Amino acid sequence: MHKNIILLGFQLWIICLLGLTCGFIFKKDIIITNAVKRIRRDGYPVEDHKVQTADGYVLTMHRIPILQKSQIYDKPPIAFLMTGIYASSDAFVFSGKDGSLPYMLSDLGYDVWMGNNRGNVYCRSHAFLTSKDREFWNFSWHEMGVYDLASMIDYVLKHTGQSSMHFVGVSQGATILLVLTSLYPEYNIKLKTAQLLAPVAYVSNMKGPMARIFAPILGTRNVLSMALEGSEMISTNNFFKELLALNCKDENFRICVSRLWPAVGYETKYLNKTLLPEVLANFPVGGSFKQMMHYLQEYNSGRFQQYNYGQLGNQVIYNSTDPPSYPLHKVTVPVFIYYSQNDYIVAVKDVAKLVKQLPNVHAVFKVPWKKWNHFDFICGLRVKEIIFDKVVDVISNYNILFNNIKKRNKI
Ligand SMILES: *[C@@H]1O[C@H](CO)[C@@H](O)[C@H](O)[C@H]1NC(C)=O
Ligand SMILES: *[C@@H]1O[C@H](CO)[C@@H](O)[C@H](O)[C@H]1NC(C)=O
Ligand SMILES: *[C@@H]1O[C@H](CO)[C@@H](O)[C@H](O)[C@H]1NC(C)=O
Repeated sequence: MHKNIILLGFQLWIICLLGLTCGFIFKKDIIITNAVKRIRRDGYPVEDHKVQTADGYVLTMHRIPILQKSQIYDKPPIAFLMTGIYASSDAFVFSGKDGSLPYMLSDLGYDVWMGNNRGNVYCRSHAFLTSKDREFWNFSWHEMGVYDLASMIDYVLKHTGQSSMHFVGVSQGATILLVLTSLYPEYNIKLKTAQLLAPVAYVSNMKGPMARIFAPILGTRNVLSMALEGSEMISTNNFFKELLALNCKDENFRICVSRLWPAVGYETKYLNKTLLPEVLANFPVGGSFKQMMHYLQEYNSGRFQQYNYGQLGNQVIYNSTDPPSYPLHKVTVPVFIYYSQNDYIVAVKDVAKLVKQLPNVHAVFKVPWKKWNHFDFICGLRVKEIIFDKVVDVISNYNILFNNIKKRNKI
């Protein structure tokens, strides 16, 4: 009991530091996350699909199916989208009917699937655990890669009867793709392309002051970090979501930005203020403490490697005192990387390091706007023309290339 109170207190402290005024003025106008409602409202068909991972977590995916038989494609090609840390598939449709990537792809005839990871609002059940169990929260993005992403990809391919798909991952969505395809290289051929937006892999050059403050405590082995291993980020609590959203109403806008933005990059030039209350009411939406601690470990180590359980623990789990690095040379899927210079999480140096390790990088796009930050990849102003149009281009061009190759083979 005492331990729980201490943990709760600690989480409150972090949340306050992260972005909250712990005040008590709040109104009841929270916008609840519900991707199905959101997508219907925007005029698209939507299905939800459940898949159980090999270790028992039940995940919900959202799909925008193609209703009419396409004249171009025999079977509509699949685009699978994966959001970032503590987010859900909703993040992809925040920008509404005219500016959201899933709709752009759907309009072009793609079968669009959006994944969700264990622990978020859509993925809180389990074959034999409940979300009250500490064991339930004992996961990092490592498990999201090897279990969640693997089962989602397999499910989608089986359900559609296809053999491969396009992948788009933002932030941690890119991390888990790298985890899966490096440790289980057989997944490379299940993907036609992997487009990684603000990919988090190496993080030792992270600029945000958050990492500098927390990495010495949470990125090392100690009583606190070990206790937090079975702990949820207190992020699905409605009260906190309301507080987050509230600070971002117009009159409080400056407070909101100055407190939240140290994490992602200071400038807010490209921020769509209209979206902010909704974004912050629906983000964060669940995950474990271990995810953040795993990144902080890498901030300290400078390596992209599995979770550090301490020398003894590592010996038992990995048969080595150090956690093994992810073998990035095994990521053979064609990779496209998008990054920006004002991303306080993914530094330019760390992107360069990643690109060097990956054997099949086809293109690296630098956002031309100097002040573009980590959040802007999802909800920046003009994100459609700056990022999403390019993403769609890559996918469409791949199909043209692929068809050409097929035709040539026939001749
Ligand atoms: C900002 O977001 C709102 C709500 O989705 C949208 O209507 C508006 O067009 C966006 N503004 C810009 C400049 O993209
Ligand atoms: C979490 O998982 C690790 C590795 O499997 C294990 O050593 C540890 O005891 C687990 N902790 C909890 C709280 O379940
Ligand atoms: C553990 O590592 C040692 C030395 O690296 C090796 O000789 C041994 O075969 C490994 N054990 C297992 C079970 O993999």
